[in-house]
Amino acid sequence: MVEGIFANWLKAFVLRHQFQYTQAVNTRYGQRQTEPFSVDFGLVKVSVIGLGYFGATHAVAMAELGHEVIGIEPDPKRLSALVEGVLPFHEPGLDEALTRVIARGNITFQSGHNAESASADLHFICVGTPQKHGSEAADTTYVFSAAKELAAHIKPTAVVAGKSTVPVGTAAALKAAMSEIAGFSVNLAWNPEFLREGTALEDSLRPDRIVVGAWDDHAAAVLKACYQPILDLGTPYLVLDVPTAELVKVAANAFLATKISFINAMAEVSEAAGADAVALAKAIGYDERIGNKFLRTGIGFGGGCLPKDIRGFIARADELGVGSAVDFLKDVDAINLRRRDRVVALATAELGEVAGKRISMLGVSFKPDSDDLRDSPALDIALRLSRAGAVVTVHDPVSLDALAVKEPGLAREPELVEALREADLVILGTEWKQYKEADPVILGSVVASKNIIDGRNVLDVEAWQAAGWRVTALGRNIVNG
Ligand code: UDX
Repeated sequence: MVEGIFANWLKAFVLRHQFQYTQAVNTRYGQRQTEPFSVDFGLVKVSVIGLGYFGATHAVAMAELGHEVIGIEPDPKRLSALVEGVLPFHEPGLDEALTRVIARGNITFQSGHNAESASADLHFICVGTPQKHGSEAADTTYVFSAAKELAAHIKPTAVVAGKSTVPVGTAAALKAAMSEIAGFSVNLAWNPEFLREGTALEDSLRPDRIVVGAWDDHAAAVLKACYQPILDLGTPYLVLDVPTAELVKVAANAFLATKISFINAMAEVSEAAGADAVALAKAIGYDERIGNKFLRTGIGFGGGCLPKDIRGFIARADELGVGSAVDFLKDVDAINLRRRDRVVALATAELGEVAGKRISMLGVSFKPDSDDLRDSPALDIALRLSRAGAVVTVHDPVSLDALAVKEPGLAREPELVEALREADLVILGTEWKQYKEADPVILGSVVASKNIIDGRNVLDVEAWQAAGWRVTALGRNIVNG
C-alpha cells in the first residue's frame, strides 16, 4: 500500500526536480568556498548509522521513499539478520517492508564506513543514548563515536542529520568534534524522531510533523528533498534553531510522560476516595483542551524512551542551572514507579503471602505489538514477585525469546491456557489484543483461583465477573460479589 502511494509520486517528482544545485559549502574548516553540488531532488543517497528499533525503521522508511540507503550496524548478529531480510525485533509491518526494499535493491547493509557510504549525500545518526550507569543522565558516548567515525569519511557537501535523543547542546559539541576531524565545517542538522514502537513504520512515513534544527539552509534543503514525499502528504516541516530542535524531542516525551503520570496520580487519589480513574479520564478527556489520548491509567510507562528521557532531561536542566524548572519530572517518575509498587501490594493483599503462590503474568513487553523489554513495568513486577518467592509464569505473544535472553530465570509459557494452569493469581501486565479478547470462561476453567489484577484497565469487568472471576484493577474500586 505504502509502495503504491509513493511510486507514482516519485515518478512525477523525479522528473520535476532533477537539476544541478550549486551550493556554497565549507571545503576547509572555517573557509567558505563554492562548488557544484549535485542533488537529485527526487532520490538521495543516504546512510543510516545504528540499526536498532528506530534506526532500522528509519532505514527501511527511507528505502520505501525510493532513496538509495546504506544501513550501517556494527553488531554482527543484528547486521547478518538484516542482510538476510530478517528483522532482529518485532515490529508489525516492518518485516514485509524490509523484504520489499531488499528485493527492490535500494537498501544494503554493512558493518562500517567505506567508499560507498562516504559518497552518500545525507547521513542519519540513529544510535542509542541509554541512561548512564550510576547516573540519571543520558550517555552520548555512542553518538560521539558514530559521529567521529563518520567525520573521517564524509564528503564536504554531505549533510549529517542527528536523530538520536540527546541532551540539549550536544549537536553543537558534535559539530565541532566532527569538523575538527573532517578538516572542514560539517553540515550537521538535528532531526528528532518521534516514532512509537508498534506503529513505527506508519509513524515514519506519516509523521505528525518533521522537525529540523539547522545552522544553514543547505542542510535544511537536503533534508527537505529527502522527506518531500512525506511533506507532499501535507506534513508540517518545521525548520528551527538547533537547540530548540534538540529540546523538542525531550519536551514532547516529558509532556507525554507527565500526562500518563497525571492520570496515574488521579488513580492513587481515586483508590483512596472510592472513585474510578478510568471514568474520570473519560470525563476530563472530553474537554478538547485536555484530550483523551495518553490518559490510560494502569501500571505506567516504560520502554527505551520515556523513562530515560525524563531522567536525562532532569540531569541536563541541572547542568544548565535550571533544574528547578523540571523538578516536577521527578514526581512524574516517582508516580510512575509507585504504580508498580501498587500491583505488588495488591498481589500480596490478594494472596496473603506471595511466597510459594503461582502467579501468571500476562504480557511482559513494555507495550503491545512490541517485544521490547526495556524498563517494562510488567517485567519489573514479575521479577519482584518472583524474588518475593512467587512461582511466576510469563506469557507474551512475541516477547518470550527476548525474555529468555534477558531474564532466563523467569518461567515462560507460549500457550495462554497453559500459562494460567493452576494459577492462584493472574496479572495482566501488557494490553495485548489476545488478552482483551480472551474468553474468561475458558481461562477460568484451568486456574486454581479465579482472581485477576487488570494492570492496564482493558478487561470487560462485567464479563469476567459473570464468569466467576474476582477482578481488581488500578485506580478503581471494583466491587466483587
Ligand atoms: C514514545 C513516544 O510516544 C514517541 O513519540 C517517542 O519517539 C519514543 O517514545 P514508545 O516508547 O514507543 O514511544 O511508546 P508510547 O506509545 O509512547 O508508550 C510509552 C509507555 O507509556 C508504554 O509503556 C505504554 O504502555 C504507556 N502508556 C501510554 C500508558 O501507560 N498510558 C497511556 O495512556 C499511554
